[in-house]
Amino acid sequence: MILRFFKPADLAALHKIDAACFPRGVSYSLEELQAFIRHRYSKTWVAEENGEIIGFLVAQCVAGEALHIVTIDVKEGWRRRGVGAALMNAAEEWGNRQSLKLVSLETAEDNQGAQAFYKKRGYIRLNRVERYYANGAAAWVMGKWLR
Ligand SMILES: CC(C)(COP(=O)(O)OP(=O)(O)OC[C@H]1O[C@@H](n2cnc3c(N)ncnc32)[C@H](O)[C@@H]1OP(=O)(O)O)[C@@H](O)C(=O)NCCC(=O)NCCS
Repeated sequence: MILRFFKPADLAALHKIDAACFPRGVSYSLEELQAFIRHRYSKTWVAEENGEIIGFLVAQCVAGEALHIVTIDVKEGWRRRGVGAALMNAAEEWGNRQSLKLVSLETAEDNQGAQAFYKKRGYIRLNRVERYYANGAAAWVMGKWLR
């Protein structure tokens, strides 16, 4: 597996993966995903195996203080092989290089797998947000201090 930065030609593939990873109302429209990726303070990493995109992560630097994980998506057949951890390592290292203080994200309340993944990486639940997602689902805000 290799990690590389996003190229504009990846957009359709990333949107397809996002639509497969999340239910409607939680996944992003193509326009939303593009806007997050194009944001001037965002960075997007793409995981590739033999030319196939198997996962990606979009992170944003907020107010020069915090790293926000916008989304992390690993294709179903490629999970539990360290792809998510490699993507998170890249994003957290980027945050550390910029001396950001903390990293945060939102995850659907019923997304137990993602919560276990983040907990293993030292994230704790900070706040519950009712009706965070367009489909009405609640979210947990999770976070941890960076280095
Ligand atoms: C959450 C997600 C990104 C994890 O990616 P991944 O590549 O499977 O994660 P890794 O293989 O790096 O997992 C690292 C560790 O996290 C924990 N973990 C990961 N997925 C888990 C799950 N579903 N249940 C319990 N623990 C899990 C395990 O401790 C795992 O180590 P192990 O496999 O040696 O036990 C992936 O499941 C995914 O894309 N899910 C759908 C989209 C999603 O929910 N994204 C997060 C939205 S907030």
